[in-house]
Amino acid sequence: MEGINREVNTKHSKVSIIGAGNVGATCAFRIAEKGYADIVLLDIIEGLPQGKGLDMVDATPIIDSDAKIIGTNDYEETANSDIVVITSGVSRKPGMSRDDLVLTNMKIVREVTEKVVRYSSNCIIIMVTNPLDAMTQLALHISKFPRNRVFGQSGILDSARFRTFIAQELNVSVKDVSTCVLGGHGDTMVSITRLCKVGGVPITELLPKEKIDSLVERTVKGGGEIVSLLKTGSAFYAPAAAIAQMVDAIILDKKEILPCAAYLEGEYGINGVVVGVPVKLGKSGIEQIIEHDLTPEEDAALKKSADAVRELVEVMNL
Ligand code: APR
Repeated sequence: MEGINREVNTKHSKVSIIGAGNVGATCAFRIAEKGYADIVLLDIIEGLPQGKGLDMVDATPIIDSDAKIIGTNDYEETANSDIVVITSGVSRKPGMSRDDLVLTNMKIVREVTEKVVRYSSNCIIIMVTNPLDAMTQLALHISKFPRNRVFGQSGILDSARFRTFIAQELNVSVKDVSTCVLGGHGDTMVSITRLCKVGGVPITELLPKEKIDSLVERTVKGGGEIVSLLKTGSAFYAPAAAIAQMVDAIILDKKEILPCAAYLEGEYGINGVVVGVPVKLGKSGIEQIIEHDLTPEEDAALKKSADAVRELVEVMNL
């Protein structure tokens, strides 16, 4: 992949997490448990990241981790991060779509990205704030980083939800289920059910079409299902676990193939927009975009999803 010009420091890595709310703090703790990186938790609210950071440090002897964890309101503390995870912003309330957050969160993500880049000009940015694909594109635009260093967390979560629902339906381990979810992180996401397998067997041979369709539908609405139960916020355990998997793949240079929101330059016949596709993640960030051959229907659904992201990006007037 072009523009690869950095590698994370795997001996002593530094991960900063912007936004010490539900997603940010939960993912900070998951990364702390790994022990391979020092962690900076930053929020605009005074005391919040400091308090949560201290609480996590207190846990390190119990979780057997030597990670240093600090909470701060000062970007200087994030200097020379290898990875910066951006979770700052507002989350959905019942009845809202992710796209409804664009005007509020674009202001926050713009400001945060400018500050992050000032102190960590060589970092990898993992975007988490919604609407995810548009916010990733905004961070790419503001940072002027190459596309291998700015991408978003969405597909791992959507894929995990689909894997969970399939495993529950067939009463098998989630480990035996693999899925392929492409497109934007929203109502237009595209499940390529033809490529979803249970123990190597396509799910199309294991479940009737109506059942598969209902599981896909539940996956698409999976985040909303949680928002309507919580009433005051959105999902955070599974999103945080998905971020930690991406951080792992980068810091440990795993070359893992994971679905991420990436800026496409002609792949899948799509140009100039961020959408979810499988990528190879390693120490340079996105090291390759994996292209599957799609049927005409799948291709049309993916293009429709990319167009929906494009519309939202236009609202931001970059
Ligand atoms: N700079 C730093 N932190 C900020 C800023 C800012 N300009 N603006 C808001 N924040 C912080 C808030 O103070 C809050 O602590 O971001 C945090 C967001 O946390 P939550 O409200 O708990 O939201 P969370 O559930 O973590 O979701 C964050 O991730 O999944 C997405 O849709 C979700 O966009 C939302 C984001």
